[in-house]
Amino acid sequence: MSILVLGIESSCDETAAAVVRDGREVLCNVVHSQNELHKRWRGVVPEVASRSHTSRILPIVAQALEQAQVRPGQLAAVAVTHRPGLIGCLLVGMAAAKSLSWLHGLPLVAVDHIQAHVHVAFMVEPALPLPAVNLVASGGHTALYLVHEPGRAERIGTTRDDAAGEALDKAAAILGLGYPGGPAIEAAAQGGDPRAVRFPLPLRHAEHLDFSFSGVKTALLYHLRGNALERPMPALDAAQVRDLAASYQHAVVTALVGKLARAVRDVGARAVAIGGGVARNQLLRRRIAEEPALRGVRVVFPPLDLCSDNGAMVAGLGTLLLAQGKVADLDLAAAATARRTAQEAS
Ligand code: KG4
Ligand code: ZN
Repeated sequence: MSILVLGIESSCDETAAAVVRDGREVLCNVVHSQNELHKRWRGVVPEVASRSHTSRILPIVAQALEQAQVRPGQLAAVAVTHRPGLIGCLLVGMAAAKSLSWLHGLPLVAVDHIQAHVHVAFMVEPALPLPAVNLVASGGHTALYLVHEPGRAERIGTTRDDAAGEALDKAAAILGLGYPGGPAIEAAAQGGDPRAVRFPLPLRHAEHLDFSFSGVKTALLYHLRGNALERPMPALDAAQVRDLAASYQHAVVTALVGKLARAVRDVGARAVAIGGGVARNQLLRRRIAEEPALRGVRVVFPPLDLCSDNGAMVAGLGTLLLAQGKVADLDLAAAATARRTAQEAS
């Protein structure tokens, strides 16, 4: 008999719901992105985000069930992201999940958002060689995880300041490109010279596995406005924007790939995988595929819609936690921050 789990995600600016069969087969994956709402602020406004979730969550859940042709009574459980994220946003998804759980007598499963990003690798490749290293890079997080087994991942490196996606979002704002910045920089970099400007990569050669991205954004600002920011922002022609976008993207990707390769070497990983919105980036994927230090290591690139925030990853990890008997109570609380391991997470 197949196990159907509904996954609900509302931790940041995506309202999402999905139904997954047997922890792997994505029957539907409905995502509503709030990019249009936040673009004039060039960042997620928490209050605006939670209000939008409130008006969208029930139609999105209904749409997911309809697309999957599943009635609530057929579900084995409702899984929901309860951390980390914006508290007001998390509460909306959790209220919906708790209501469904109570109404239909379904077990409620609490899922850690970052661990769900990590778990996508097992949805794509259940027999992932272990141990594996997973790079999760998004607008809010950039970290490396040592994956011991499904549902058990340990953080071995993290950013000390900005996330990689945040660095791309801020650079796009400086360069007058679109929002969100990651895809805007990627598009603007097409045909640009990645070596036109050498941006610094702090911590790149440090022995540990931590990242730092705040300096690269400042370096872009100094490059344009002088070291004392004494100059006004110069008018840039299309070729200059292309070269700057390409050089900046090159710097961010080089920092990510360098630490990923170091992590694989340090822990003797047999596989690598990536997740989070930045994992959609094609240069990142190409550089990982071509990285000499990763030869002989199995590389998993999840489909793009399983990289950015979605409900399928929540349902996927939720299915595993359900099988392990890790069911939450209806008084489950939201938390803004992540825990270090999946074991603590349940
Ligand atoms: O995981 P995600 O959808 O949401 C969270 O932040 O949790 O990630 C969004 C981030 C944004 O910073 C966005 O600019 C970045 O992922 N992003 C990309 C690409 N698509 C989205 N960064 C680089 N290249 C992309 N194609
Ligand atoms: Zn995310």
